[in-house]
Amino acid sequence: MAGHVLEVEDLWVKYYTMSGVVHAVSGVSFKLRRGEMLAVVGESGSGKSTLAYALMNMVPKPGKIVRGRVLLGGVDLLTLMTEELRKVRGSRISIVFQDPFTTLDPLRRVVDQFTEFLMEHGLDKATALRVAREYTEAVGLPERVLESYPHQLSGGQKQRVAIAMAISLSPEVVIADEPTTALDVIVQKQIMDLIDDVRRKYKSSFILITHDLALALERADTVMVMYGGYVMEYADKSELVRDMRHPYTRALLESLPRLGQRGLPSFLPGYPPDLRNPPSGCVFHPRCPLAREKCRAEQPQLVEVSKGHYVACHYAGVVK
Ligand SMILES: Nc1ncnc2c1ncn2[C@@H]1O[C@H](COP(=O)(O)OP(=O)(O)OP(=O)(O)O)[C@@H](O)[C@H]1O
Ligand code: SF4
Ligand SMILES: [Mg+2]
Repeated sequence: MAGHVLEVEDLWVKYYTMSGVVHAVSGVSFKLRRGEMLAVVGESGSGKSTLAYALMNMVPKPGKIVRGRVLLGGVDLLTLMTEELRKVRGSRISIVFQDPFTTLDPLRRVVDQFTEFLMEHGLDKATALRVAREYTEAVGLPERVLESYPHQLSGGQKQRVAIAMAISLSPEVVIADEPTTALDVIVQKQIMDLIDDVRRKYKSSFILITHDLALALERADTVMVMYGGYVMEYADKSELVRDMRHPYTRALLESLPRLGQRGLPSFLPGYPPDLRNPPSGCVFHPRCPLAREKCRAEQPQLVEVSKGHYVACHYAGVVK
């Protein structure tokens, strides 16, 4: 049986701001198989990016990982020292951001940034140049892109460069945080096709972070739905499509724009909670059409309702 490349256990992250403690990620656990694509789905503010940062052990201040383990090949990244972490980031676990300028300095040639990144991970200059060329080609870019400055490239080209860098050291896990949100619809599809190709070719595992449930259902093997920092539902895609249980997942599905209107903002009544002061009981109860008294008082645990299908809802058994 294929082992798990990544095991995340009971991860909690909080931001200690002047106006209070933000409970951004609360008790998230999951396992990722080799070559698997897991989609993490949820509205704005549900804790997706914070989770991504925590997996890289790079939560920005004033955030702090307060509990949990992130086991990559059995080693807990949360216990590593800065120097060890620097080696692991980029080579064994890497991230593609929504805005490629987070990765790329607009004022330095792509080739210099790419080779410098590789040399920081121990490659000599000639090998770094060869690898940079190889991966530039692998993501469908002409070699001349290497000589360009990022500001001379289109959004799609920049995101291809960011993906090339993220995969160039063959990491076991690549996290892509809304990698296509800033791009137009046609380029979005090209980049997602590229991610699919790369995943098959290099057998990397991907964590695709997106607010778009339709995209998750189209591309992922497994889907994890987050709301208010908690996992609401987690299952293989086919199981989720067959037997969607959580009222929030269903609301997300119902709020999707109809065919032909993809890309338009979706609408779900109400607002996500203020995570400085989350609702009592089930964090979704103020917006849940099925909320009852118990939901206000008691927080539902994430339970396995059928093999590999987890749901956090008091009434998941009856909500069919
Ligand atoms: N640097 C920060 N300082 C304080 N609070 C933060 C910080 N970054 C995120 N938060 C808060 O943490 C919570 C989770 O935010 P996060 O950015 O992880 O959500 P997200 O699901 O990625 O949202 P989006 O879809 O908008 O990117 C939110 O309440 C947000 O306001
Ligand atoms: S526990 Fe209650 S409020 Fe929460 S999702 Fe289930 S029915 Fe809705
Ligand atoms: Mg985000």
